[in-house]
Amino acid sequence: MSGDSQKQDLSKVLEEAEKLIKDTKNLSDLDKIRVQFLGKKSLIMGLMKTLSSVEIEKRAAQGEQLNNIKEKINFLLSSKKSELNKNSNKDKDQFDVTMPGKASAIGSLHPITKTMNYAIQIFESLKFECVEGPEIEDEFHNFTALNIPDYHPARAMHDTFYLENSFLLRTHTSSVQVRVMDEKEPPIRIIAPGKVYRKDSDITHTPMFHQIEGLYIDKKVSFSNLKGIISVFLKIFFEKDDLKIRFRPSYFPFTEPSAEVDIEYLDSKGNKQWLEILGCGMVHPNVLEMANINPDDYSGYAFGLGVERLAMLKLGITDLRLFYENDLRFLKQFQRK
Ligand code: FA5
Ligand code: MG
Repeated sequence: MSGDSQKQDLSKVLEEAEKLIKDTKNLSDLDKIRVQFLGKKSLIMGLMKTLSSVEIEKRAAQGEQLNNIKEKINFLLSSKKSELNKNSNKDKDQFDVTMPGKASAIGSLHPITKTMNYAIQIFESLKFECVEGPEIEDEFHNFTALNIPDYHPARAMHDTFYLENSFLLRTHTSSVQVRVMDEKEPPIRIIAPGKVYRKDSDITHTPMFHQIEGLYIDKKVSFSNLKGIISVFLKIFFEKDDLKIRFRPSYFPFTEPSAEVDIEYLDSKGNKQWLEILGCGMVHPNVLEMANINPDDYSGYAFGLGVERLAMLKLGITDLRLFYENDLRFLKQFQRK
């Protein structure tokens, strides 16, 4: 082939390649075009192979022509390729309204939080003001001011988590009683809900649990007022008039007399059992005196309710630790309750 006629043929080839590449709509057709023009059996590659037999004077010029056209076609192919890739990503980004939607799970409050909120709401309707106290306490507020001096055996009733410098995780919400009596003058009528901590773990005990403390101090507050408020609360909470409650004599250093309240329930084997839900009593005169309240003028009652125990009875759970295993299959059962 003469140099000129090769030039003509090659410019036709380039023209054809340009047109085909321009009209291509997808990557696989583009690859077919690459094979057609630059593949082993293509005209251009065929001419490349025969280059060595071309007269030496013409070889360099023909080689340059072939390389130029090869480069041009390569450039057209790669530009088209990136254009097609860009368009196919654009399609991917587009929102397909016909696709089924992804349902997102709706969260809900933990059953213990719901139980707490419900109990608080009932006490507020009974005119108790809701207050809070710290979970990290000192020995004075958790023990000493509650008539439990150093080395008193009652300190061993609570298996305490001690922190540095005589700080501790409060073992009961009774510590808030002390703080409130320091700040307020009687009449005092409060509840103090919150987390408390003890080294305890079995089917009715967890190391972290919730209590709601109640304190009412006024002139002439009596034990029958205490019994009345507890009975009213429990009847509203359990929505049952025939709830079986028992007040059992007990001992707390900060109340005298003291009692614990149990509720009858059916255990996992269907046997009747009593479950303790709270401790209570008349505020000890020593505690009032330590808070500068004159026990000759004022008397009061206090109680400390176990919230997990209330939830256990209300929801029919036989192992309290289930509340804190975070198994969604367990928690989801209470989503609407
Ligand atoms: C007290 O904590 C007293 N502060 C209650 C009190 C307050 C008495 C005011 C007098 C005046 P007790 O250790 O019994 O008492 O705990 C009270 C309630 O908390 C128990 O009746 C029980 O319902 C719940 N409770 C105790 N330990 C645990 C635990 N480890 N896990 C879950 N609930 C518990
Ligand atoms: Mg007890």
